[in-house]
Amino acid sequence: MSRILTGIQSTNVPHLGNILGAILPAIELSKQQGNSCLYFIADMHTLTSVKDAVKIKESTKAVAAAWLAFGFDTQSNLFYRQSRVPQVTELSWYLNCFTPFPMLANAHSFKDKSERLSDVNAGLFTYPVLMAADILLYDADKVPVGKDQLQHLEITRDIASAFNNTFGQEVFVLPEGITDSKVMTVPGTDGQKMSKSRNNFIDIFQDEKSLKKVISRIETDSKGLEESKDPDTCNVFHLFALLANPDQTQTMRENYIRGGYGYGHAKAALLELILDKFKAEREAYVRLIQQPELLEKELAIGEARASAYANEKLKQVRSLVGYGL
Ligand code: ADP
Ligand code: TRP
Repeated sequence: MSRILTGIQSTNVPHLGNILGAILPAIELSKQQGNSCLYFIADMHTLTSVKDAVKIKESTKAVAAAWLAFGFDTQSNLFYRQSRVPQVTELSWYLNCFTPFPMLANAHSFKDKSERLSDVNAGLFTYPVLMAADILLYDADKVPVGKDQLQHLEITRDIASAFNNTFGQEVFVLPEGITDSKVMTVPGTDGQKMSKSRNNFIDIFQDEKSLKKVISRIETDSKGLEESKDPDTCNVFHLFALLANPDQTQTMRENYIRGGYGYGHAKAALLELILDKFKAEREAYVRLIQQPELLEKELAIGEARASAYANEKLKQVRSLVGYGL
């Protein structure tokens, strides 16, 4: 029996990278017998980069609608907003006091973000500690994440071990990060890792016209229609191959190599594939986003259950650090 937990920030509508790298593998896991899953919207992590209440609210709805559109079963699992179980921030404080400063200073994700972003706040710095609290509060043992987040799982294990060793008890479960080796990093329209903060993402839920426009912006080299092209260095091909079946991929590969097949053709094929593959989810998303009360209801159920669990765990932690009755 595995207790699986993962979170997605609410910075925007989940993009293709989030869907392939996080949502789909997580939903797959939730369907396997014996797994109990806690999937949440990491809206407190979002505040490290977004200071706009309307945007946070809208994005939270979008993330919730995306999980539900992809068929996450909220009855047999837990689905909640991080901010609605604020006990996590209390645990985060305790964990901060067990986290060596250099471990955070050396985190790749912090270094990367602090070079790219203008708002380098302390929340961004202690981000991995809040993430550790997200995981440890619920005794999760498996955490599906993209490759870029694996270091945060190592940090979580280090913090949990430090705490357990201090008190001589297995207070926290040491979680394991799991990545889908087939997906790895989904490239964005510029060939870099697809990311909301890089503005190179593909939102599969938008209308066909806007989707077409984004796909037309995928960067390629400037080879002409007749020339033979290298599929292995092309973003359009890479994205196509992530979604297509082996026959479709092989045909596309041959088209590239043969020549007489332009990037415009490949982009049109990618658009068709996205529309076809995600037809049901695109329709479900549009339906759900128009029913905020339904989204609210789904989340509130999970939040009540998550909160009860968090209270129990915190009682134990408070008592260990010296704040118990
Ligand atoms: P972003 O980088 O767009 O801000 P998040 O950091 O909110 O995305 O990531 C949410 C989840 O989606 C994480 O598990 C992350 O590893 C995964 N993920 C994000 N971008 C990609 C990508 N380009 N390829 C694969 N997985 C990704
Ligand atoms: N940091 C993760 C990301 O940006 C989101 C996240 C927050 C998370 N808390 C988590 C993922 C706990 C897994 C477990 O992708």
